[in-house]
This record gives sequence, C-alpha cells and structure tokens, in this order.
Amino acid sequence: MNPNKALWEKGDFTRIAETMRESGEALVQRLGITKGLKVLDLGCGDGTTALPAAKLGADVLGVDIASNLVEAGNKRAAEQGLTNCTFQEGDASNLEQLLDQAFDLVVSIFGAMFAPKPFEVAKEMVRVTRPGGRIVMGNWIPNDPTLVAQILKISSSYTPPPPEGFVSPMTWGIESNVIERFAGAEVQPEQKRECHLHSCNVCACDGSAFKTQELSRSVILAHASKAPRSLPRCS
Ligand SMILES: C[S@@+](CC[C@H](N)C(=O)[O-])C[C@H]1O[C@@H](n2cnc3c(N)ncnc32)[C@H](O)[C@@H]1O
Repeated sequence: MNPNKALWEKGDFTRIAETMRESGEALVQRLGITKGLKVLDLGCGDGTTALPAAKLGADVLGVDIASNLVEAGNKRAAEQGLTNCTFQEGDASNLEQLLDQAFDLVVSIFGAMFAPKPFEVAKEMVRVTRPGGRIVMGNWIPNDPTLVAQILKISSSYTPPPPEGFVSPMTWGIESNVIERFAGAEVQPEQKRECHLHSCNVCACDGSAFKTQELSRSVILAHASKAPRSLPRCS
C-alpha cells in the first residue's frame, strides 16, 4: 500500500479537524468565492474548507488520499444538504482522474504539502487550474515559533531518519522552494509581494497563464489561530 495513504488512514484526523471548523470558514471567506466557481480542495480532509466553500455557492470537489476522510467528507456534505460538494480519493502527486484546466480555484490547506514528489504536485495543481485561475496553498514553515511547527520539529528529532529520497513536507514552507516548484510548472514569479507572517506560507497564483505569483504568510492566522487577516489578492 502507498505509505502516504497508510499513514493518513491510520489515525482519525476528523478529531483534529473538528477543532478547526471556525478557522476553516474564516479562511474561505477570504478566498473570493462566488456562486458557481469551480473549486478543487486538494488534501481536503473531511471538508474543513471544502464545505464552507460549497456553502458560499462554489461547486466543490474535495480530493484526499485517505478513504476514511473522503467518506467522512461525503457524510458531512450530505448531512448539511450540500449537493454541490463531493469528495473522492486521489493523490495530489498524480491527479490523472481530473481534466486539464477544470478548476477556477485550487485550494490546499496543509494538504498537498504532505504528498511526495513536490514538483509533480505543483505541475498537477497547475494542470487542473484554468488559465487565469488561482492556486492557494497553506503550508507549515520549518522552525517557525508557532505550536505546530514546534511539535513537528520535536517529533522529528525522536523518529528514525526518513527513507532516502524523502522530501520533507516542511520544505513547502520555504519561499524559494515554492517559487522553484511552480517555476517547474511554468508559473513565473513575476510579481511577489511582501508577506506578513507567522506560521505558514500561503502562495497564490493568479493571472493569465499564471503570470503572477504571490506569496503571503497571513492566511494561516485565519486557519490556525482564528485571527484572520485578509488574503491579499493577485492583481
Ligand atoms: C493536515 S490534514 C489537512 C486537511 C484539510 N485540508 C484541513 O485543513 O482540515 C492533511 C490532509 O492531506 C491529505 N493528504 C496527505 N497526502 C496526500 C496526497 N498525497 N494526496 C492527497 N491528499 C493527501 C491527508 O489525508 C489529510 O487529509
């Protein structure tokens, strides 16, 4: 079995996700969701950001590698009467079941960062986003003073070294890596704005043929500490 899938199916992430509903909603409020917007939530878990996006009228597909979380997401959507929100299994490194340019907005909040092969992940996110669409990621930042980054740092010092070739998810929290990975998918950082930031980065690509890339570290505040700031929009 795919070890990444086995890892995420081993525990019950819904227990943690339950503590994040409010911040997930606050974050989504800042994504400029409009009725009928086609949204892909990648590494969606049980729908912390997918369901609020659907409530705002978007047509949402949540994709996650963990079958238990896909099931939990579909159950939550059904319970809330959200026929415009469905969840299916998939791997952010290979979204072969999804068509090119199918989405206006691809969101991945602490999701795709956990997939192996980050260059493939960036390529797949760009491939399924329409020209002029947006990609928004939330990623933990290594050595950041905030709680989750510190927990990850401490736990990694007590675990055996990863297998050769393993790329740490935390490398998505380094701005130069984000630029390099999206450049590999032909998204050029023609425009970059200063970030405010504390615990993760959020990068957003926007503009025709992904001409602009914006990096911001502010959105995590909405998700992690319930103190939202607005997500800067790409021009
Ligand atoms: C920290 S949780 C975040 C879930 C959700 N985005 C949220 O904010 O509540 C990380 C999620 O990424 C998913 N994930 C990990 N590796 C993945 C991969 N290769 N492809 C798709 N999803 C993946 C996990 O199953 C899990 O649901």
